[in-house]
Amino acid sequence: MADKPSTDDILAKLRKEAQGGGGGDETPASAQPAAETRAPAPPAGETPTSTNDIMAALRAQGGKAASEPSPAPAARTGETPKSTNDIMAALRAQSGKGASPAAESKPAAPKKAGAPASLPDGEKPSVEEMLKGLRGEAKAADTAPAKPAKPTMPPLPTKPPVASKKKEPETRRNFLIALVATPFALAWTAFTASAGAFTLGLARFMMPNVLVEPPSTFKVGPPSDYPPGTVSTKWKAQFAVWLVHAEYEGKSLIYALSTVCTHLGCTPNWLEGEQKFKCPCHGSGFYINGINFEGPAPRPLERHAIRVAPDGMLEVDKSRKFQQELGQWEDGNSKVEVV
Ligand code: FES
Repeated sequence: MADKPSTDDILAKLRKEAQGGGGGDETPASAQPAAETRAPAPPAGETPTSTNDIMAALRAQGGKAASEPSPAPAARTGETPKSTNDIMAALRAQSGKGASPAAESKPAAPKKAGAPASLPDGEKPSVEEMLKGLRGEAKAADTAPAKPAKPTMPPLPTKPPVASKKKEPETRRNFLIALVATPFALAWTAFTASAGAFTLGLARFMMPNVLVEPPSTFKVGPPSDYPPGTVSTKWKAQFAVWLVHAEYEGKSLIYALSTVCTHLGCTPNWLEGEQKFKCPCHGSGFYINGINFEGPAPRPLERHAIRVAPDGMLEVDKSRKFQQELGQWEDGNSKVEVV
């Protein structure tokens, strides 16, 4: 593949042609005086920034190339290019003709980093493009290194759609209404209530009935509260006894008579005017000492045990009873003798 001649080569050829008068004479370029007297070349290692610097560098290279023997013949004879336009016109004319033998023998120069990469092979860059490339290199050297790109966050996983719970209470309410309103549910409700009531009744039946009774032993006060010849009905309603202070067999006694009729268990009444106990059920009558004298009552009223407690009070014990027909009234516990 034939490379195109570089600018140095072209300049060297042009100057050779201008100095040697054309043709293929291989006059050594060192015999010619140096033509670079217009502008000084920029110092080595410094990047040219202006057009004049670039052209001065080109001419300095051309001078160097002219001092070296070049085996390539001149492309054409003519005048020595003096202006920049002439040089560039000659460059473009040669690039249009194709590669010269000298250009083909010379290896292609590596492209600069700042040169436009979009140019196709075989086409020379213009002056403007060369300037842009040089300035781009200068800017690239001054600019700071590019910051590393920030790592992009991976997209968050999308949340699953939350199921709506607004309709759940309404659905539950409807279900409960439908459950309660059906005949089947009503039947089950009635059956459950009946079973519960039966269970409660059975539990109550298993519990024993407790009778609340007054205590069998109780105090009724001092003996002085019961004068001779009197019947006290104070304890009849509460303890079902009469407290009697009367004469019996020549002794002044205080005793406790039961209020239960010996006929069928009715409660007689004390009749103060008649000085007797009268049963309202069948008319049985009893004297003040409890001996029956009329009616169907078969025997005298019973006595309960009585005594004087250590505190001086009369104490009655209903758990013990004394019957006259059995001779139990002779027991000292059936009476309190008042002296
Ligand atoms: Fe008292 Fe019959 S119960 S007389």
